[in-house]
Amino acid sequence: MRYLSQDDPELAGLVIDEEKRLETTLNLIAAENHAPRSVNEVLGSIFNTKTIEGYPGGRFHAGCVHADQVEDLARQRGKKLFNAEYINVQPHSGTSANLAVYFSVLETGDRVLSMSLPHGGHLSHGHSASITSRCFDFSHYKVDSKTERIDYDRVRQMARQLNPRMIVAGASSYPRLIDYEKMAEIAREVSAFFMADMAHLAGLVAAGAIPSPVPFCDFVTFTCYKTMIGGRGGVILCRKKYGKKIDQAVFPGCQGTSAVNLLAAKALIFKIATREKFISIQKKTIENARTLAREFKEMGYRIVTGGTDNHQVLLDLTAREMSGKFAETRLESVGIVLNRNLVPQDEKTPGRVSGIRLGTNGLSARGMGAAEMKRIARLMDSAMVNSTGKEVLAGIREEVLDLCRAFPIIKQI
Ligand SMILES: Cc1ncc(COP(=O)(O)O)c(C=O)c1O
Repeated sequence: MRYLSQDDPELAGLVIDEEKRLETTLNLIAAENHAPRSVNEVLGSIFNTKTIEGYPGGRFHAGCVHADQVEDLARQRGKKLFNAEYINVQPHSGTSANLAVYFSVLETGDRVLSMSLPHGGHLSHGHSASITSRCFDFSHYKVDSKTERIDYDRVRQMARQLNPRMIVAGASSYPRLIDYEKMAEIAREVSAFFMADMAHLAGLVAAGAIPSPVPFCDFVTFTCYKTMIGGRGGVILCRKKYGKKIDQAVFPGCQGTSAVNLLAAKALIFKIATREKFISIQKKTIENARTLAREFKEMGYRIVTGGTDNHQVLLDLTAREMSGKFAETRLESVGIVLNRNLVPQDEKTPGRVSGIRLGTNGLSARGMGAAEMKRIARLMDSAMVNSTGKEVLAGIREEVLDLCRAFPIIKQI
């Protein structure tokens, strides 16, 4: 920060403010995490300035000797960690990774079957607002209206009717395990490619805390900054036979130069992910999500699907007569940060929505456990429902600060 403070004190101030904000709030955003300091160091390293195009041994600029070693390290470690036949570590984001997979083996206009966004899917799975829907002909499966889980018989029925070229499994808000084996079987039956997007789940999978989609998929994509606890960016794992097509689809197909500092952060987090501490954080993340879900259930909240198998808990606030937007804003005012979220069959507008999504990844990385989850659930309930008085809210804010002080943000894993 020495040079930034001199060059741009205003911006340096914002960096300090952001550190303070994170240190003094409880982060329940399922799509974020507290990266170890070494990850931030390598992201801000001199590798930020190196321009590379192509792949190690076949670059389009000179001076890539160290960049090649960085990318090779990331590839070797990532392949080993996820037991994959092939890996591409260059995607700038999860969306870029998904785009590259689609363009590697599909023709524009080809049919793809994926999960509907309001039921848990992601924009890059063919939502009308995403460019993916303009390139390919997406149809969407939904969750069952009673169980709120994927109805695999219905997916099979749709696959038989639609004959898609690709089936996509994976979600941004789905608190249950996905049966990848079953989805792969359905894809095989209709001769479709099968891709899993484990953007949210990669850290849990790396730690062996939940089953891996890798053995069942032609392609697996993920991001490194959610449960994976690393820097930003996406990764593609695939069967060896698709490796060349994937490489071409990433560069030059969907991206130009790759970001070497991001590749270095990926190499680093793949190493950190083999450590006992990383593994125990991932296991704790799931235990904590279950505790949080149980606690809210006891207080009479409706939990989408009735519980959780991963890092997410989805609360439906319909019966509480408040919107997700209200809860998000109220909770942020006491230092509890999360995002409003659609729930299946949501009747509210996309801006207000009926639910909130809680992720235990950030809290677990700070070392919190069952006792803290119970306390946080009670604090959230008081803030959302019981207390509109300024004094009560100020008291909750104090308790949040106590928790933050007792569990400072991790520097190392
Ligand atoms: C399932 C899923 N896929 C893809 C992405 C996209 O990642 P990015 O925002 O890095 O493009 C996300 C992001 O939240 C996601 O949840």
